[in-house]
Amino acid sequence: MTFDDPIDRRGTNSSKWDKMEAYSGVSPEDGIAMWVADMDFPAAPVLQEAVQGLLEKANYGYFASDAKAIEAAAWWMKERHGWSVDPDWMTSTLGLGHAIALLLETFTDKGDEVIIFTPVYHEFTNKIRSAERVVHESPLVIEGGIYHMDLDALEAGLTGREKAVIISSPHNPAGRVWTPEELQQLAALCERHDLMMISDEIHHDLAFPGHRFTPFLTAAPDAAQRTIVLTAASKTFNIAGARQAAVTIPDAEKRMAFRHALHVHQTQPNLLGVELTAAAYSPRGAQWVDELVAYIHGNAQLFNDGVAQIPGAVPMPMQSTYLAWVDFANTGLAMEDVLARVHDDARLAPSVGGFGTGGESFLRFNLGTQRARVEEAVSRLQDAFSDLQ
Ligand SMILES: Cc1ncc(COP(=O)(O)O)c(C=O)c1O
Repeated sequence: MTFDDPIDRRGTNSSKWDKMEAYSGVSPEDGIAMWVADMDFPAAPVLQEAVQGLLEKANYGYFASDAKAIEAAAWWMKERHGWSVDPDWMTSTLGLGHAIALLLETFTDKGDEVIIFTPVYHEFTNKIRSAERVVHESPLVIEGGIYHMDLDALEAGLTGREKAVIISSPHNPAGRVWTPEELQQLAALCERHDLMMISDEIHHDLAFPGHRFTPFLTAAPDAAQRTIVLTAASKTFNIAGARQAAVTIPDAEKRMAFRHALHVHQTQPNLLGVELTAAAYSPRGAQWVDELVAYIHGNAQLFNDGVAQIPGAVPMPMQSTYLAWVDFANTGLAMEDVLARVHDDARLAPSVGGFGTGGESFLRFNLGTQRARVEEAVSRLQDAFSDLQ
């Protein structure tokens, strides 16, 4: 199978397709799901073989350990990202959202402030608020068409109640790949104000040619004792349903505290997540990812070039991920009108809202799908805004 082969996920209990009508009002009958961040591609053959291996064992009882997933993850970080990480620092969780919730619970108190750079992945805000902590937004600024952290403004506005920073690296929703210098400056700020640094690196494998992802701890190794890094094969290999992530905590005391919190809740990894992650983080997995990145890069170029032809629509140049971030502010239309055109006329369901300050006039379009569908989405968008000059 190739990435171009059509695949119909409707009626398969897919969140993206089967919940899209409830989310956006756009029916999957004629609509295109472009919201939830997963991909419409068939699984890599190496994953299918891992599932086949499980089937052949024909037993799904308690299993001995998650070591093979953790060791494969440590191998991958070194091999793909030049990050030497001790597998003993890594702990499995049931995804990154789970990890963030538990980190907040373990290392911060009610009322503490947690810094995030907005617009950003909506679950950061949700998790902070659900834990009754306070969101401290540091709005990103657009310079040269792309996002930058404004660390001077952040520092000037600190209240002294901040306990932690959560960064999305690379950045969801805009695909920005932070440079080593930017990460070092952030690490220095954390040091000056004694903040815990939580680096969510779930999108790390999807940097486009010309951009290199930098793991936080290779940019700022001296920050290791205050840093926690979150990774997973879930975005890269489209296995989010298997709920497996790795939380890297170099500081022994913090690591013990975190493992204790997991133990209190009797939270253990699951068999499928361990098997799929171990299979994904392999030389064959790496080859599949290289092909995937080339494909989604092609989708990104096609989509952004097409959308840029709509007067006033400004797609942010993408450095990574399959998530396109388009600003409709300069169309001169109210967001309600933009949405009516996107939903009702173009029959597209992108992600709308929830990204925090700075994201109000943007929509996020998921391009992790067949090229033909991306072409169709561009053509429908151009038609829906064809009256603009
Ligand atoms: C930055 C970021 N972190 C975490 C997640 C979700 O992770 P999980 O499904 O493991 O909770 C996403 C999903 O889109 C994401 O974009």
